[in-house]
Amino acid sequence: MKTTNPVYTNLSMTIFEVMSRLAIEHDAINLGQGFPDVDGPDDVKRLAAEELTSGLNQYPPMMGVVELRQAVAAANARFHGLDIDWQGEVLVTSGATEALSDCMAALIEPGDEVVAVEPLYDCYLPLIRRAGATPRLVRLTPPDWRLDPAMLAAAFGARTKAILINDPMNPAAKAFTDDERALIADLVIKHDAYAICDEVYEHIVFDGRRHHPLMTLPGMRERAVRIGSAGKTFSLTGWKVGYVTAAPRLLDPITKAHQFTTFTTPPNLQKAVAYGLAKGDDYYRGLAGDLERKRDRFAAGLVDLGLPVVPCAGTYFISCDISSLGFADDVSFCRTMTVEAGVAAVPMSAFYDRDGPKNFVRFCFSKRDEVLDEAIGRLSAWLARRDRASA
Ligand SMILES: Cc1ncc(COP(=O)(O)O)c(C=O)c1O
Repeated sequence: MKTTNPVYTNLSMTIFEVMSRLAIEHDAINLGQGFPDVDGPDDVKRLAAEELTSGLNQYPPMMGVVELRQAVAAANARFHGLDIDWQGEVLVTSGATEALSDCMAALIEPGDEVVAVEPLYDCYLPLIRRAGATPRLVRLTPPDWRLDPAMLAAAFGARTKAILINDPMNPAAKAFTDDERALIADLVIKHDAYAICDEVYEHIVFDGRRHHPLMTLPGMRERAVRIGSAGKTFSLTGWKVGYVTAAPRLLDPITKAHQFTTFTTPPNLQKAVAYGLAKGDDYYRGLAGDLERKRDRFAAGLVDLGLPVVPCAGTYFISCDISSLGFADDVSFCRTMTVEAGVAAVPMSAFYDRDGPKNFVRFCFSKRDEVLDEAIGRLSAWLARRDRASA
């Protein structure tokens, strides 16, 4: 029989699936997958339920319901000072993942190059490759995740169509600095490229930080595409409601890709997200504050166990250095930890195309305190057992 498309056919089972299966098999606490174990605001959920039962459940407008497009434009103004036309510059998608896929399909042509920064969120490389483009990877490494200006500049060239950038960044938990953003913007402009900005964690930044979209930099309003996700902003990851903000020239082809991919997103969820986006500052402060406390709680537990943590500026994730434990690599550590300790995490090397660092693992801390404490307790008991066995 004829071959199927190699981009997807040749993908082996991802380490995420391997770890999740192993976690189920061994009844492990799964700190591998990135989702909160408590749902977001009740009033947002209630509104979605009401809209489901009393509202219309037919195809909503292709670009998204009016209320949500207006709310996304209003949120852009409120949080980032961006003046966005809700009618021509906002598109609602079925999650940020669909938005990323639409952007790749609409902006990238075969033969293009797309600059992307390792460690990478898992769908980036398949989407770039399926669009017929070549990824030009710039590598950041823990613990400082510093962006090397020379390496970034070297990744851009005559064939660069876009940079795909995730800020705040999963899995590195890095927020790009103002200097780094300025550098990225300069290169994008110099090479007449676009910036596809995955900013799903824009409201999950810690220690008094504020997220600054690349789109707000001089010259980037027309070149940047900004992607957000209600899943992250309202701790409702199963809803898969995303939104794209871009100038009309870019949004127009992205909308066409969306038209022939999902066409729409459930109207009741859109209406509830529109309501949620207008929530007061206390909601947004609470979201980041709660997660910051969880970060601190879990980080303190890891440090007490002798596992140094990598700075975490935002997102759901924190990484730690496992060098002192004597494992061959991060993959064997994660497998053994899942089976013997009953705690699952993800090896950092899985987020690199090849040859990633092998002594860091990523934990998701957006879980109830008792779950985090139980995970630390299990790790502590496991490490003590290992110490006794090797004594
Ligand atoms: C960096 C990043 N981008 C995109 C997504 C996907 O977002 P959504 O669930 O809205 O498709 C995630 C989810 O974990 C993510 O971490």
